[in-house]
Amino acid sequence: MASRMALHPHDVTLRCLSPPLAAPRRRRRAAVRVLAVASTPSTVSAKVESKTFSPPREVHVQVTHSMPPQKIEIFKSLDDWARDNILTHLKPVEKCWQPQDFLPEPSSDGFHDEVKELRERAKEIPDDYFVCLVGDMITEEALPTYQTMLNTLDGVRDETGASPTAWAVWTRAWTAEENRHGDLLNKYLYLTGRVDMRQIEKTIQYLIGSGMDPRTENNPYLGFIYTSFQERATFISHGNTARHAKDYGDLKLAQICGIIASDEKRHETAYTKIVEKLFEIDPDGTVLALADMMKKKISMPAHLMFDGQDDKLFDHFSMVAQRLGVYTARDYADILEFLVNRWKVADLTGLSGEGQKAQDYLCTLASRIRKLDERAQSRAKKGGTMPFSWVYGREVQL
Ligand SMILES: [Fe+2]
Ligand SMILES: [Fe+2]
Repeated sequence: MASRMALHPHDVTLRCLSPPLAAPRRRRRAAVRVLAVASTPSTVSAKVESKTFSPPREVHVQVTHSMPPQKIEIFKSLDDWARDNILTHLKPVEKCWQPQDFLPEPSSDGFHDEVKELRERAKEIPDDYFVCLVGDMITEEALPTYQTMLNTLDGVRDETGASPTAWAVWTRAWTAEENRHGDLLNKYLYLTGRVDMRQIEKTIQYLIGSGMDPRTENNPYLGFIYTSFQERATFISHGNTARHAKDYGDLKLAQICGIIASDEKRHETAYTKIVEKLFEIDPDGTVLALADMMKKKISMPAHLMFDGQDDKLFDHFSMVAQRLGVYTARDYADILEFLVNRWKVADLTGLSGEGQKAQDYLCTLASRIRKLDERAQSRAKKGGTMPFSWVYGREVQL
C-alpha cells in the first residue's frame, strides 16, 4: 500500500473531513488543541485543531482495540505460517530494483545529456498528468504514516523495532520495499523541472504531520483488509499512470510507473493471502470485518493532504485522477468485486445470522456502488478548473 489512494473519489465521508474553505486565518496560529470526549474506554471522539501543522480536521470517532483479546492468539499461532507463506512474497534486497536503475547516473559524463533528454520527454506531458503523478508521489512519501498504521495492529505489531516475529519482519521489509517508490518518483519529478518541488515538499510535511484515519481500530482483520484494498488500488493507479506515460511517448516514465505497479501487485498478493487465511480460520469474524470496512468506506491514505493553500486539495486531486482515468469511482467498485471473488465470499457456509447478512451485503455492494456512481456522474457538473500549487499555480481542469 503505502501508496496511494483508495478512496471513492466522491466519498462523502471525505467531504465531511474537509474543513470549511475559508477557515479563519487566526486559527492558523492557534496552538494544537485536541478535544477528546471519552465515551467508552475504547472509543474517543476527537477533533484535532492544529492550524500550525495542518488545517483543522474532524476525524472519525476513534475506536481502538476492537478485536477481542483472545483473537490475538490466532495471529501468534500464525507466525510460522506467515514465515512460510507471506515472507516469500518479499524480494531479497540484492534482487530488487533501485531508483537509481531508472535515473540518470550522476557520476557519468553523460549525466547532463540524460537529464536533458528526460526534460525533453517531460515537455510533452500535460499538467493534469503531473498533478496525478505528484499526488501519487506524495502519497508514497507519507510512508512513515503507513508503517505506523501497521504497528498499531494488535498481535502483529513490531513490538521493539527489531522484533524477529514473521509479522514484524514483513512490516519492516515491506516498508523498505515501499520506500523506493517515493524515492524514485520524487527524484524523477525533480529532474523534469515541471513541478514546484518546494510546494510538493511542504505537502509531504503537512501530510506526514496529519497522519491518516483508516478506522482500522488496532484490529488486524480490519488492517489487512485495508492494506489488501490499498495495494490493489495503487497497483491500478500506477498501472494507469504507466499507460498514460506511454501514450505521451515517454517510455522511460512508463517503465518507472510500471515497475512500481509490479511491487504493489506483489504486496497485494501477500495481504490478500493473509485475509484468505483469516477467512479459512474464522469465516464469520472475517466476513463481518470486511462488511464493516466497506460500510465505513476505504479512505485513501493521503486523504488529509494539504499544501498550505488549498483546503480541499485531496478532493481536487481526486477529481483530476477521476477525469484522467488514473483512479476512478469505478475502480473502487472493481477492487471490491475483485476482493469479494478472491476471498470467495459468496461460497462461505456455516455463518451466523449476522455473518450471512454481511455476506449478502458484500455480494451486491459493487453493483450498487456502480449504479450510485453512474447517477452521481450524470448529475455532476462538468468542467471547471483549479490552480494547483504543485504546478506553479497553473490552472488544471477538474
Ligand atoms: Fe503499496
Ligand atoms: Fe507504493
